[in-house]
Amino acid sequence: MVKGFATGILSERSSMKAALIDRYGGNEVVEVRDVPQPQPGPDDVLIRVYAAAINPLDWKIRNGMVKIFTGHTFPKILGSECAGEVVATGSSVQGFAQGDRVIGFPGIKRLAAFAEYVCAPERTTFPKPVNVTFAQAATIPIAGITALQALRDRGRLAAGQHVLINGASGGVGTFAVQIAKVFAAKVTAVCSGANSELVKGLGADRVIDHTREEFTKGSERYDLIFDAVAKASFAACKRVLAPKGIYVTTLPTFAVLLNRYLTGYLTSQKARIVMDRPNARDMEWMKGRIEAGRIRIVIDREYPLEQIREALAYSEAGKAKGKVVVRIF
Ligand SMILES: NC(=O)c1ccc[n+]([C@@H]2O[C@H](COP(=O)([O-])OP(=O)(O)OC[C@H]3O[C@@H](n4cnc5c(N)ncnc54)[C@H](OP(=O)(O)O)[C@@H]3O)[C@@H](O)[C@H]2O)c1
Repeated sequence: MVKGFATGILSERSSMKAALIDRYGGNEVVEVRDVPQPQPGPDDVLIRVYAAAINPLDWKIRNGMVKIFTGHTFPKILGSECAGEVVATGSSVQGFAQGDRVIGFPGIKRLAAFAEYVCAPERTTFPKPVNVTFAQAATIPIAGITALQALRDRGRLAAGQHVLINGASGGVGTFAVQIAKVFAAKVTAVCSGANSELVKGLGADRVIDHTREEFTKGSERYDLIFDAVAKASFAACKRVLAPKGIYVTTLPTFAVLLNRYLTGYLTSQKARIVMDRPNARDMEWMKGRIEAGRIRIVIDREYPLEQIREALAYSEAGKAKGKVVVRIF
Protein backbone atom coordinates (compact mmCIF):
# COMPACT_ATOMS: atom_id res chain seq x y z
CA MET A 1 0.00 0.00 0.00
CA VAL A 2 1.50 3.32 -1.03
CA LYS A 3 0.84 6.05 1.49
CA GLY A 4 1.54 9.76 1.20
CA PHE A 5 2.92 11.24 -1.98
CA ALA A 6 4.69 9.15 -4.53
CA THR A 7 8.03 10.22 -5.82
CA GLY A 8 8.95 12.08 -9.00
CA ILE A 9 5.84 13.46 -10.60
CA LEU A 10 4.50 15.29 -7.60
CA SER A 11 7.63 16.66 -6.04
CA GLU A 12 8.80 18.09 -9.37
CA ARG A 13 5.39 19.71 -10.08
CA SER A 14 5.98 19.04 -13.78
CA SER A 15 3.48 20.15 -16.35
CA MET A 16 0.87 18.14 -18.19
CA LYS A 17 -1.47 18.59 -21.13
CA ALA A 18 -5.11 19.37 -20.37
CA ALA A 19 -8.23 20.54 -22.23
CA LEU A 20 -9.54 23.64 -20.53
CA ILE A 21 -11.62 26.78 -20.84
CA ASP A 22 -10.93 30.35 -19.66
CA ARG A 23 -14.60 31.34 -20.04
CA TYR A 24 -17.92 29.73 -20.92
CA GLY A 25 -18.87 29.54 -24.59
CA GLY A 26 -18.87 27.43 -27.76
CA ASN A 27 -16.15 25.03 -28.85
CA GLU A 28 -13.84 27.95 -29.68
CA VAL A 29 -13.19 28.49 -25.94
CA VAL A 30 -11.72 24.98 -25.53
CA GLU A 31 -7.92 24.82 -25.61
CA VAL A 32 -5.35 22.09 -25.05
CA ARG A 33 -2.32 23.53 -23.23
CA ASP A 34 0.25 22.84 -20.54
CA VAL A 35 -0.75 23.30 -16.90
CA PRO A 36 0.86 22.12 -13.63
CA GLN A 37 0.11 18.55 -12.58
CA PRO A 38 -2.37 18.32 -9.70
CA GLN A 39 -1.32 17.20 -6.22
CA PRO A 40 -3.56 14.84 -4.26
CA GLY A 41 -5.10 15.95 -0.98
CA PRO A 42 -5.17 13.47 1.93
CA ASP A 43 -8.27 11.63 0.61
CA ASP A 44 -7.34 11.76 -3.07
CA VAL A 45 -6.03 9.30 -5.59
CA LEU A 46 -3.81 10.74 -8.33
CA ILE A 47 -4.57 8.99 -11.61
CA ARG A 48 -2.53 8.92 -14.78
CA VAL A 49 -5.39 9.18 -17.27
CA TYR A 50 -5.45 6.84 -20.29
CA ALA A 51 -8.98 7.64 -21.47
CA ALA A 52 -11.82 9.97 -20.53
CA ALA A 53 -15.44 9.67 -21.63
CA ILE A 54 -17.34 12.48 -23.33
CA ASN A 55 -20.85 13.18 -22.05
CA PRO A 56 -23.46 15.79 -23.04
CA LEU A 57 -22.67 17.19 -19.57
CA ASP A 58 -19.25 18.30 -20.87
CA TRP A 59 -20.55 20.62 -23.58
CA LYS A 60 -23.31 21.81 -21.25
CA ILE A 61 -20.59 22.76 -18.73
CA ARG A 62 -18.54 24.39 -21.51
CA ASN A 63 -21.62 26.42 -22.54
CA GLY A 64 -22.19 27.59 -18.95
CA MET A 65 -25.55 25.82 -18.79
CA VAL A 66 -24.80 24.40 -15.33
CA LYS A 67 -22.68 27.25 -13.95
CA ILE A 68 -24.79 27.21 -10.81
CA PHE A 69 -22.78 24.04 -9.99
CA THR A 70 -19.51 24.74 -11.79
CA GLY A 71 -19.04 28.37 -10.70
CA HIS A 72 -16.90 31.10 -12.23
CA THR A 73 -13.36 30.01 -11.43
CA PHE A 74 -11.12 29.79 -14.51
CA PRO A 75 -9.19 28.24 -16.06
CA LYS A 76 -11.37 25.18 -15.71
CA ILE A 77 -10.18 21.79 -16.97
CA LEU A 78 -13.17 19.91 -18.44
CA GLY A 79 -13.98 16.21 -18.07
CA SER A 80 -16.01 14.31 -15.50
CA GLU A 81 -14.86 10.68 -15.67
CA CYS A 82 -11.81 8.74 -16.72
CA ALA A 83 -9.86 5.50 -16.46
CA GLY A 84 -6.16 5.04 -15.89
CA GLU A 85 -3.51 4.00 -13.39
CA VAL A 86 -2.87 5.16 -9.84
CA VAL A 87 0.43 7.04 -9.56
CA ALA A 88 0.11 8.37 -6.01
CA THR A 89 -2.29 8.39 -3.08
CA GLY A 90 -3.02 10.89 -0.31
CA SER A 91 -2.05 10.13 3.28
CA SER A 92 -5.54 8.89 4.31
CA VAL A 93 -6.17 6.63 1.30
CA GLN A 94 -6.47 2.97 2.30
CA GLY A 95 -8.01 1.19 -0.67
CA PHE A 96 -5.71 1.98 -3.61
CA ALA A 97 -2.02 1.71 -4.34
CA GLN A 98 0.37 2.81 -7.05
CA GLY A 99 -0.17 0.80 -10.23
CA ASP A 100 -3.85 -0.05 -9.61
CA ARG A 101 -6.01 0.20 -12.72
CA VAL A 102 -8.94 2.38 -11.82
CA ILE A 103 -11.91 4.43 -12.93
CA GLY A 104 -11.99 7.96 -11.54
CA PHE A 105 -14.94 10.30 -11.05
CA PRO A 106 -13.63 13.64 -9.78
CA GLY A 107 -17.17 15.05 -9.61
CA ILE A 108 -18.96 18.00 -11.24
CA LYS A 109 -17.36 20.61 -8.94
CA ARG A 110 -13.80 19.40 -9.57
CA LEU A 111 -13.96 18.01 -13.12
CA ALA A 112 -10.46 18.00 -14.75
CA ALA A 113 -10.57 14.50 -16.28
CA PHE A 114 -9.54 15.70 -19.78
CA ALA A 115 -5.91 15.82 -18.69
CA GLU A 116 -2.87 13.59 -18.42
CA TYR A 117 -3.27 13.45 -14.63
CA VAL A 118 -6.29 14.00 -12.40
CA CYS A 119 -7.13 13.72 -8.70
CA ALA A 120 -10.30 11.92 -7.67
CA PRO A 121 -11.54 11.34 -4.11
CA GLU A 122 -10.98 7.77 -2.92
CA ARG A 123 -14.74 7.25 -2.49
CA THR A 124 -15.33 7.93 -6.20
CA THR A 125 -12.36 5.94 -7.44
CA PHE A 126 -13.25 2.39 -8.44
CA PRO A 127 -11.47 -0.76 -9.64
CA LYS A 128 -11.56 -1.19 -13.42
CA PRO A 129 -13.25 -4.30 -14.86
CA VAL A 130 -10.46 -6.57 -16.10
CA ASN A 131 -11.95 -7.45 -19.48
CA VAL A 132 -12.50 -3.98 -20.98
CA THR A 133 -10.23 -1.29 -22.38
CA PHE A 134 -9.51 1.92 -20.49
CA ALA A 135 -11.69 3.71 -23.06
CA GLN A 136 -14.63 1.45 -22.27
CA ALA A 137 -14.05 1.59 -18.51
CA ALA A 138 -14.09 5.40 -18.49
CA THR A 139 -17.75 5.44 -19.59
CA ILE A 140 -19.22 3.55 -16.64
CA PRO A 141 -19.71 6.17 -13.84
CA ILE A 142 -21.99 8.47 -15.82
CA ALA A 143 -23.75 6.58 -18.65
CA GLY A 144 -23.67 3.17 -16.96
CA ILE A 145 -24.63 4.19 -13.44
CA THR A 146 -27.32 6.60 -14.67
CA ALA A 147 -28.95 3.72 -16.58
CA LEU A 148 -28.74 1.41 -13.56
CA GLN A 149 -30.11 3.93 -11.06
CA ALA A 150 -32.87 5.02 -13.48
CA LEU A 151 -34.19 1.51 -14.06
CA ARG A 152 -33.62 -0.07 -10.64
CA ASP A 153 -34.03 2.80 -8.14
CA ARG A 154 -36.24 5.36 -9.87
CA GLY A 155 -38.16 2.97 -12.11
CA ARG A 156 -38.34 -0.06 -9.77
CA LEU A 157 -38.02 -2.34 -12.79
CA ALA A 158 -39.00 -5.95 -12.04
CA ALA A 159 -38.67 -9.20 -13.98
CA GLY A 160 -41.33 -9.64 -16.64
CA GLN A 161 -42.23 -5.95 -16.81
CA HIS A 162 -42.26 -4.12 -20.14
CA VAL A 163 -39.88 -1.15 -20.32
CA LEU A 164 -39.53 1.34 -23.17
CA ILE A 165 -36.14 3.02 -23.52
CA ASN A 166 -36.18 6.24 -25.53
CA GLY A 167 -32.73 7.04 -26.93
CA ALA A 168 -31.68 3.40 -26.77
CA SER A 169 -28.69 3.82 -29.12
CA GLY A 170 -27.03 6.63 -27.11
CA GLY A 171 -24.54 6.50 -24.25
CA VAL A 172 -27.09 5.98 -21.47
CA GLY A 173 -29.47 4.01 -23.71
CA THR A 174 -27.01 1.30 -24.77
CA PHE A 175 -26.32 0.55 -21.10
CA ALA A 176 -30.04 0.75 -20.24
CA VAL A 177 -31.13 -1.85 -22.82
CA GLN A 178 -28.65 -4.37 -21.45
CA ILE A 179 -29.33 -3.63 -17.77
CA ALA A 180 -33.07 -4.06 -18.39
CA LYS A 181 -32.35 -7.50 -19.88
CA VAL A 182 -30.24 -8.39 -16.80
CA PHE A 183 -33.41 -7.58 -14.79
CA ALA A 184 -35.33 -9.95 -17.11
CA ALA A 185 -37.61 -7.22 -18.45
CA LYS A 186 -39.16 -7.05 -21.91
CA VAL A 187 -37.47 -4.17 -23.75
CA THR A 188 -38.81 -1.89 -26.45
CA ALA A 189 -36.02 0.34 -27.74
CA VAL A 190 -36.61 3.66 -29.50
CA CYS A 191 -33.91 4.93 -31.89
CA SER A 192 -33.54 5.77 -35.57
CA GLY A 193 -33.82 2.91 -38.07
CA ALA A 194 -30.08 3.02 -38.79
CA ASN A 195 -29.38 1.95 -35.18
CA SER A 196 -31.99 -0.79 -35.06
CA GLU A 197 -29.49 -3.67 -35.47
CA LEU A 198 -27.22 -2.18 -32.80
CA VAL A 199 -29.94 -2.16 -30.13
CA LYS A 200 -31.29 -5.57 -31.17
CA GLY A 201 -27.75 -6.88 -30.73
CA LEU A 202 -27.79 -5.50 -27.18
CA GLY A 203 -30.93 -7.50 -26.43
CA ALA A 204 -33.89 -5.28 -27.32
CA ASP A 205 -37.00 -7.38 -27.99
CA ARG A 206 -38.64 -4.76 -30.18
CA VAL A 207 -37.44 -1.57 -31.86
CA ILE A 208 -39.41 1.56 -32.76
CA ASP A 209 -37.86 3.88 -35.36
CA HIS A 210 -38.63 7.37 -34.05
CA THR A 211 -38.20 8.86 -37.52
CA ARG A 212 -41.23 6.85 -38.74
CA GLU A 213 -43.39 6.27 -35.71
CA GLU A 214 -44.17 8.10 -32.47
CA PHE A 215 -44.22 5.59 -29.63
CA THR A 216 -46.53 7.88 -27.64
CA LYS A 217 -49.23 7.30 -30.29
CA GLY A 218 -48.99 3.48 -30.26
CA SER A 219 -51.35 0.96 -28.67
CA GLU A 220 -48.77 -0.74 -26.39
CA ARG A 221 -48.72 0.06 -22.64
CA TYR A 222 -45.44 0.13 -20.69
CA ASP A 223 -44.78 -0.48 -17.01
CA LEU A 224 -41.78 1.83 -17.24
CA ILE A 225 -40.74 4.46 -19.76
CA PHE A 226 -37.12 5.53 -19.40
CA ASP A 227 -36.62 8.66 -21.48
CA ALA A 228 -32.82 8.47 -21.58
CA VAL A 229 -32.53 11.34 -24.11
CA ALA A 230 -35.26 13.46 -22.52
CA LYS A 231 -37.14 13.99 -25.78
CA ALA A 232 -40.62 12.77 -24.77
CA SER A 233 -42.54 14.66 -22.09
CA PHE A 234 -44.36 13.01 -19.19
CA ALA A 235 -47.63 14.43 -20.54
CA ALA A 236 -47.08 12.79 -23.93
CA CYS A 237 -46.04 9.46 -22.36
CA LYS A 238 -49.01 9.16 -19.96
CA ARG A 239 -51.32 7.60 -22.52
CA VAL A 240 -48.90 4.73 -23.20
CA LEU A 241 -47.94 4.21 -19.54
CA ALA A 242 -49.68 1.39 -17.66
CA PRO A 243 -52.18 2.62 -15.02
CA LYS A 244 -49.48 2.31 -12.33
CA GLY A 245 -46.60 2.96 -14.70
CA ILE A 246 -43.50 5.04 -13.98
CA TYR A 247 -41.86 7.58 -16.28
CA VAL A 248 -38.18 8.34 -15.61
CA THR A 249 -36.26 11.10 -17.35
CA THR A 250 -32.65 12.29 -17.29
CA LEU A 251 -33.58 15.99 -17.35
CA PRO A 252 -35.76 17.79 -14.80
CA THR A 253 -38.82 19.52 -16.26
CA PHE A 254 -41.54 21.46 -14.49
CA ALA A 255 -44.17 18.73 -15.16
CA VAL A 256 -41.95 16.04 -13.68
CA LEU A 257 -41.07 18.12 -10.61
CA LEU A 258 -44.76 18.90 -10.12
CA ASN A 259 -45.70 15.22 -10.23
CA ARG A 260 -42.73 14.18 -8.09
CA TYR A 261 -43.30 16.64 -5.28
CA LEU A 262 -46.99 17.62 -5.50
CA THR A 263 -49.59 15.93 -7.67
CA GLY A 264 -47.80 12.57 -7.78
CA TYR A 265 -49.30 11.64 -4.41
CA LEU A 266 -52.75 11.81 -5.99
CA THR A 267 -52.05 10.07 -9.30
CA SER A 268 -51.19 6.43 -9.92
CA GLN A 269 -48.79 7.16 -12.80
CA LYS A 270 -45.51 8.52 -11.45
CA ALA A 271 -42.81 10.75 -12.94
CA ARG A 272 -39.24 10.57 -11.66
CA ILE A 273 -35.88 12.19 -12.41
CA VAL A 274 -32.66 10.24 -12.22
CA MET A 275 -29.62 12.09 -10.87
CA ASP A 276 -26.49 10.00 -11.37
CA ARG A 277 -24.62 9.16 -8.14
CA PRO A 278 -21.67 6.86 -8.80
CA ASN A 279 -20.85 4.80 -5.71
CA ALA A 280 -18.79 1.72 -4.86
CA ARG A 281 -21.77 -0.64 -4.56
CA ASP A 282 -23.23 0.21 -7.98
CA MET A 283 -19.82 0.29 -9.68
CA GLU A 284 -19.19 -3.20 -8.25
CA TRP A 285 -22.57 -4.34 -9.63
CA MET A 286 -21.60 -3.04 -13.08
CA LYS A 287 -18.11 -4.55 -12.87
CA GLY A 288 -19.59 -7.96 -12.06
CA ARG A 289 -22.03 -7.88 -15.02
CA ILE A 290 -19.36 -6.55 -17.41
CA GLU A 291 -16.83 -9.20 -16.39
CA ALA A 292 -19.52 -11.89 -16.73
CA GLY A 293 -20.20 -10.70 -20.31
CA ARG A 294 -23.78 -9.62 -19.51
CA ILE A 295 -23.10 -5.96 -20.37
CA ARG A 296 -20.82 -4.80 -23.16
CA ILE A 297 -19.69 -1.22 -23.57
CA VAL A 298 -20.34 0.26 -26.99
CA ILE A 299 -17.76 2.79 -28.16
CA ASP A 300 -18.68 4.82 -31.22
CA ARG A 301 -15.60 7.01 -31.66
CA GLU A 302 -12.27 7.66 -29.96
CA TYR A 303 -10.43 10.97 -30.38
CA PRO A 304 -6.94 12.03 -29.25
CA LEU A 305 -6.93 14.81 -26.63
CA GLU A 306 -5.77 17.29 -29.28
CA GLN A 307 -9.10 16.75 -31.07
CA ILE A 308 -11.23 17.48 -28.03
CA ARG A 309 -13.22 20.11 -29.94
CA GLU A 310 -14.19 17.56 -32.61
CA ALA A 311 -15.14 15.07 -29.88
CA LEU A 312 -17.39 17.60 -28.12
CA ALA A 313 -18.94 18.68 -31.44
CA TYR A 314 -19.74 15.07 -32.33
CA SER A 315 -21.44 14.51 -28.97
CA GLU A 316 -23.32 17.80 -29.29
CA ALA A 317 -24.69 16.72 -32.69
CA GLY A 318 -26.74 14.13 -30.76
CA LYS A 319 -26.11 11.14 -33.03
CA ALA A 320 -23.59 9.14 -30.99
CA LYS A 321 -24.02 5.37 -31.19
CA GLY A 322 -22.91 4.38 -27.70
CA LYS A 323 -20.05 6.35 -26.19
CA VAL A 324 -17.51 8.89 -27.42
CA VAL A 325 -14.11 8.78 -25.72
CA VAL A 326 -10.94 10.88 -25.58
CA ARG A 327 -7.65 8.95 -25.57
CA ILE A 328 -4.82 10.33 -23.48
CA PHE A 329 -1.24 8.92 -23.59
N1 LIG B 1 -29.56 13.14 -14.89
C1 LIG B 1 -28.37 12.57 -15.00
O1 LIG B 1 -27.75 12.20 -13.99
C2 LIG B 1 -27.81 12.32 -16.38
C3 LIG B 1 -26.75 11.42 -16.55
C4 LIG B 1 -26.30 11.16 -17.84
C5 LIG B 1 -26.87 11.81 -18.93
N2 LIG B 1 -27.86 12.73 -18.71
C6 LIG B 1 -28.51 13.40 -19.85
O2 LIG B 1 -29.17 12.40 -20.60
C7 LIG B 1 -29.23 12.76 -21.95
C8 LIG B 1 -28.73 11.59 -22.80
O3 LIG B 1 -27.37 11.34 -22.54
P1 LIG B 1 -26.56 10.35 -23.48
O4 LIG B 1 -25.16 10.33 -23.00
O5 LIG B 1 -27.26 9.06 -23.65
O6 LIG B 1 -26.63 11.16 -24.87
P2 LIG B 1 -26.08 10.75 -26.30
O7 LIG B 1 -25.26 9.53 -26.22
O8 LIG B 1 -25.47 11.96 -26.90
O9 LIG B 1 -27.43 10.43 -27.11
C9 LIG B 1 -27.32 10.23 -28.47
C10 LIG B 1 -28.46 9.35 -28.93
O10 LIG B 1 -29.69 10.08 -28.84
C11 LIG B 1 -30.57 9.50 -29.78
N3 LIG B 1 -31.65 10.42 -30.13
C12 LIG B 1 -31.55 11.68 -30.58
N4 LIG B 1 -32.80 12.19 -30.80
C13 LIG B 1 -33.68 11.22 -30.47
C14 LIG B 1 -35.10 11.15 -30.47
N5 LIG B 1 -35.87 12.17 -30.84
N6 LIG B 1 -35.67 10.01 -30.05
C15 LIG B 1 -34.92 8.97 -29.66
N7 LIG B 1 -33.57 8.97 -29.65
C16 LIG B 1 -32.96 10.09 -30.05
C17 LIG B 1 -29.70 9.21 -30.96
O11 LIG B 1 -30.25 8.08 -31.59
P3 LIG B 1 -30.61 8.09 -33.15
O12 LIG B 1 -29.40 8.67 -33.84
O13 LIG B 1 -30.85 6.66 -33.44
O14 LIG B 1 -31.80 8.99 -33.27
C18 LIG B 1 -28.31 8.91 -30.36
O15 LIG B 1 -27.99 7.53 -30.40
C19 LIG B 1 -28.40 14.04 -22.08
O16 LIG B 1 -29.26 15.16 -22.06
C20 LIG B 1 -27.55 14.05 -20.82
O17 LIG B 1 -27.14 15.32 -20.42
C21 LIG B 1 -28.34 13.01 -17.47
